[in-house]
Amino acid sequence: MSFTRYGSVAPAEEWCRAALEEGKTLGFVPTMGALHEGHIALVERSVEECDVTVVSVFVNPLQFDDPGDLERYPRDEDSDARALEEAGCDLMFTGTLPEFFPRSFDEMGSLEPGALVSPGPAAEGLEGASRSGHFVGVATIVHRLFEVVSPTRAYFGRKDYQQSLIVKEVAARRGSPLVVICPTVRTAEGLARSSRNERLSEAERTDALALSEALAACDALWREGERDAEALSRALSRPLEAAPGVQLDYAAVRDAERWTSEDPSGPMGSCVALVAARVGPVRLIDNLVLGEGEACEISLGAGSRA
Ligand code: PAJ
Repeated sequence: MSFTRYGSVAPAEEWCRAALEEGKTLGFVPTMGALHEGHIALVERSVEECDVTVVSVFVNPLQFDDPGDLERYPRDEDSDARALEEAGCDLMFTGTLPEFFPRSFDEMGSLEPGALVSPGPAAEGLEGASRSGHFVGVATIVHRLFEVVSPTRAYFGRKDYQQSLIVKEVAARRGSPLVVICPTVRTAEGLARSSRNERLSEAERTDALALSEALAACDALWREGERDAEALSRALSRPLEAAPGVQLDYAAVRDAERWTSEDPSGPMGSCVALVAARVGPVRLIDNLVLGEGEACEISLGAGSRA
């Protein structure tokens, strides 16, 4: 099938409807563009598993709490289109907020509060606490994208751990799609790929390695048998507090089976370690499910792990 690119929502919706009417399975990868190997791995997985693959490229203003961050977010749709075509994507589309929500804008041009979608309990704490309104913005656009595309399967990255829980919740409430959470793609040195890495200098890239190194150290401790939440959390945060060029936002552990807004205490049965820090001009996040590494997860319902 040849590569199609639409600059608005309505023809993309029509294209998806036609593909589904032909009985095709439809894989969907929502993105904000400035595509890198992490995004392309999701696309390749979808191409492998589904008849057609659709990618949205939309820098969603609803999920940015800092207008400067929205303005500086890297954009290069032509290069994204080339990478997607090469990866075997069938349809790339973008749109505008009024196109996505044609009936939900008031006279002031703002999205009406009734159009917002609750992100559920996984939005409490860590990223949710640091970035006010961020996950409401994510849940709202992901819900809308699911309506537009009606995917059979949707592919997301483990890199955004809390987001993956929220997306699973949105999908579970709708009863579809099947959500596939894919492993975090890293550079050879361990830095999690991110569109924001483009704004790091060489020296800052080296500083940023402290995040994945702290996660690896915490994982090593887990593999040695440490299960105490406080001990694991200390092992994660201590090297980051001392790391040059790193301004730590949080370093925390959570039960990987059950999200809590507060830090857990005592022995843990399963554990995900999560970090957020400012390095130079950007805020970076990363995480690791301890003892498991970068496994893939397919989910039909909120919070379930396969
Ligand atoms: P964006 O940051 O562009 O990421 C799109 C998808 O790529 C997300 O599922 C994200 O987790 C995944 N991803 C990013 N870096 C990755 C990496 N290094 N390895 C594996 N997967 C990676 O996340 C968003 O956009 C938005 O919030 C969105 C879901 C599109 C809603 O606007």
